[in-house]
Amino acid sequence: MSQPPTESTPTWRIVEAPHPTDLDSPDAWAYLGIAQVEAEVTTEIHGYDDLADEARDVLAGMDSQEYTTKQRFVAVRTDAPETPGPQDVLGHLAVALPTSSNTHLGELSVQVRPAHRRHGIGSALWETGEQVLVDAGRTVLFTDTQHGTEPPPGPGALEARTGAGRVPADDPGPRFVRSKGYVLEQVERHSILPLPVDPGALDRLRAQALAAAGPDHRTHVWEDDVPEQWREQVGTLFTRMSTDAPLGDIDFREDPWDARRVGVWVEELRAKGHGLLMTVAEHVPSGTLAAFSVLDYPEDRPAFAYQEDTLVLREHRGRRLGMLVKVVNLDELAVRRPTTERIHTWNAEENDHMLAINIDLGFTPAGGYAGWQKRVGA
Ligand SMILES: CC(C)(COP(=O)(O)OP(=O)(O)OC[C@H]1O[C@@H](n2cnc3c(N)ncnc32)[C@H](O)[C@@H]1OP(=O)(O)O)[C@@H](O)C(=O)NCCC(=O)NCCS
Repeated sequence: MSQPPTESTPTWRIVEAPHPTDLDSPDAWAYLGIAQVEAEVTTEIHGYDDLADEARDVLAGMDSQEYTTKQRFVAVRTDAPETPGPQDVLGHLAVALPTSSNTHLGELSVQVRPAHRRHGIGSALWETGEQVLVDAGRTVLFTDTQHGTEPPPGPGALEARTGAGRVPADDPGPRFVRSKGYVLEQVERHSILPLPVDPGALDRLRAQALAAAGPDHRTHVWEDDVPEQWREQVGTLFTRMSTDAPLGDIDFREDPWDARRVGVWVEELRAKGHGLLMTVAEHVPSGTLAAFSVLDYPEDRPAFAYQEDTLVLREHRGRRLGMLVKVVNLDELAVRRPTTERIHTWNAEENDHMLAINIDLGFTPAGGYAGWQKRVGA
C-alpha cells in the first residue's frame, strides 16, 4: 500500500485514527488533522468552509456509535514524529455501518489534501474502507461527492440515473469514484438562502400558509431539545423522512426512529456544539404531529445555518404545512440567532415540490451533492 518517495509527496502509511477523550489530549492529532483536510477540500470545492466538519464534529460523531458503527483512518507521513501533528495527516477515510436498519449497506468517504493528490493515497484509503465494509458483509456500498457548481447538460456533464441533476464529469471526485466502479444514482441541488429574507415575501408566504393550514393546525417551536412527550411522534417524522424523500435507485431502506433515538440525536448535536431549532405543525383535533422542519447550526460559527429535514406526513399534505413550518422556523431564527447571514440546504433535483418551496423563499443554486452506489458480492 505504500508508494516510493517523490519530491512533492512523502511516503505515508494508513492507520486507524486514535479516539481521544477530548481535543486537548495528545491523541487528538488525527481528528485535528481530519478537520484540516476537511477545511482544505471543502474550500477547494466551494470557496468557503461552511460545510467542513470540525474536529469537535468528528469527536462527537465518533462518540456516538449506537445506531451506526463508525471507523476512521488517516494517511500519515512516515517521517512524522512518534505522536504526529495534525499537519502530518495527508488524507482520511470515514466508514459507516448502520446497525439498527440498512445492515446491507455501508458508506465510505475519502478526502486527500490537494497538494498530495495522484500519488495513490486516495486509492489506498479507499481499499481499506471497502475491505472493512465487505468484511462486515455489506453488499451495497454508498459514497458521495460535493460540487461547487451543477453544470448544464452537454459534454463535461455527467447525468444522474434519476435523469435529474448533473455533476462536472472531470472533477476529481467523479473521476475517482467512477474508476472504483461506482454509479451516479442521484444529484441533490445545494442552495443558499441569503438572510434576511425579504419581509414582504415572507409575510405573503406566511399568510398563504396560515390560510391553507386553517384553524385545525398549530405550530410549536423547540430550541436545542425536543420535549419528552413529543419525541415518539418526532421519531415517526424521521422514520417517514427515510422513505418519503426521493432516493432514486439508492438502496436506502426504512430507518425506524423512536423517542429514544430522537434523544440520542439531540445529545449528539449538542455534543458537537450545535444549536437546533425545530418547528412542528400539530393537527389539533387528533394531537398528531403532521409536519416538521429542522435547522441546525454550529454555535461558534454564527454566520450560517443548515436547513435539515422538512417533512409533511402523506395524509396531511396539500395544506401548505411544509411552507408553514419553514416560515415559522425562519421567523424564529431571525429572533433567536440574528447573526445568521445564510442558510444552506440540499434537495433532490427531482423533488420539484420542495425545490419550489425553497425557490419561493429565495434560495438560489450553489452547487451539487451527488450520491454514488456500487453493489458487491451477493
Ligand atoms: C478523489 C480523491 C480522494 C482522490 O485522491 P488521490 O490521492 O488523488 O487518489 P489516487 O492518487 O489514488 O487516484 C486514483 C485514481 O483516481 C482517478 N483520479 C483521481 N483524481 C483525478 C483527477 N484529478 N483527474 C483524473 N483522474 C483522477 C485516476 O484514475 C487516478 O489514478 P491515476 O492517478 O493512476 O490516473 C481526491 O481528489 C479528493 O480528496 N477529492 C475531494 C473529495 C472526494 O471527491 N472524494 C471522493 C468521494 S468520497
